Amino acid sequence: MDYSNLSKAAQAAPPNLIRAFSEKISHIDGLLKFNIGEPDFPTPEVVKQATIESINKDQSFYSHSRGVMELREAIAGYIDRKFNLEYDPATEVIVTVGSTESLKAAVDVVTNPGDNILVVDPNYVIYNTQVTLARGNIVPIEVADTKFKLTPQAVHDKMAEIGEAKAILFNYPVNPTGVSYNREELKALAEVFTEYNLYIISDEVYSEFNYGEEDHVSIAEFAKDRTILINGASKAFAMTGWRTAFVAAPKAIIDSLFAVHQSMVTAPPTQIQYGAIVAYNDLDEDVAEMRQSYLDRRNLVIAGLESLDIEYIKPEGAFYILFKVPDWFDGDDQEFCLQIAHDQKVALTPASVFGNGGKQYVRISYASSAENLKILIERLGKFKDAHQ
Ligand SMILES: Cc1ncc(COP(=O)(O)O)c(C=O)c1O
Repeated sequence: MDYSNLSKAAQAAPPNLIRAFSEKISHIDGLLKFNIGEPDFPTPEVVKQATIESINKDQSFYSHSRGVMELREAIAGYIDRKFNLEYDPATEVIVTVGSTESLKAAVDVVTNPGDNILVVDPNYVIYNTQVTLARGNIVPIEVADTKFKLTPQAVHDKMAEIGEAKAILFNYPVNPTGVSYNREELKALAEVFTEYNLYIISDEVYSEFNYGEEDHVSIAEFAKDRTILINGASKAFAMTGWRTAFVAAPKAIIDSLFAVHQSMVTAPPTQIQYGAIVAYNDLDEDVAEMRQSYLDRRNLVIAGLESLDIEYIKPEGAFYILFKVPDWFDGDDQEFCLQIAHDQKVALTPASVFGNGGKQYVRISYASSAENLKILIERLGKFKDAHQ
């Protein structure tokens, strides 16, 4: 049978290049992995217990499609406590199956075929797939020349080039760079997004891991009427496998987004939601400990890279750090990661998988034990010695 008449968008959707690279090296025995973007902590016990209790109470049926009210209230309370923003749990919050679902629904809800959707390049790879599936036109804004930060000027320049755009997919703290934005920078960006009448799909899944002087500020603070705020439990509470997150936005956006959400999942898994209630309500102290632990590990990696004279982008959040392919290596970021995987048995991610703007950079995920991170630095040192 000839399958070439399958949906053009589905056929054009780019594959997950992080996974594709990871497969190239997965056969190497004894590989130490620094290419995985997920917390290395167990999910906190209280969350597990609440979920077990829900299973034992036979809460095994569809919940409200938007999520159980008690969870939506917990999420609204969390957003208020963390970002000082009010959302109505009845009409402005939907519980989703991971931020990935929130993102997909948000992209679907703003995109008409052919719409330009801006992304900051390098960016989390799934954005490109989601925009392609929605028949949108992805427009990368490369930020490598401005220390990997999006500036209002870069938005003006891109808009002058393309004329119009519908939305921006904006993420901070950023996967893969660890870069983040302070209140002043966010205010300036929100102004420029507003000037061009863009919807802001704001992916703030790393909000809890912010190492700057001030706490994480949501861009919704400056442009609530056009922001689709996305966050979730995966990174914040070490719950990636639970697949639970949320989307919060003005009622009119949520009303349309609800149709997309319902068509994808009917309702989020019920028992998981009872665990998530505890997570959003009661884990502030656990999260503070995790944040400190990531920060210590960030500092350990920074000190290691400095001792090897390797140029890096100082991360202000998340658990990633980018370093530049050093001059002593004759090749690009893909070749660097392939060769170090074979020679030193460490798995890193070539940042060109995140877009053109990532070329010649390598991403380390430091959500790994301090012991392993020390081994990584040692092996980077050996790799350097072998190449100098
Ligand atoms: C920037 C970013 N957004 C969203 C996600 C997806 O998170 P979730 O597990 O909530 O679907 C990830 C996961 O790595 C991510 O890095």
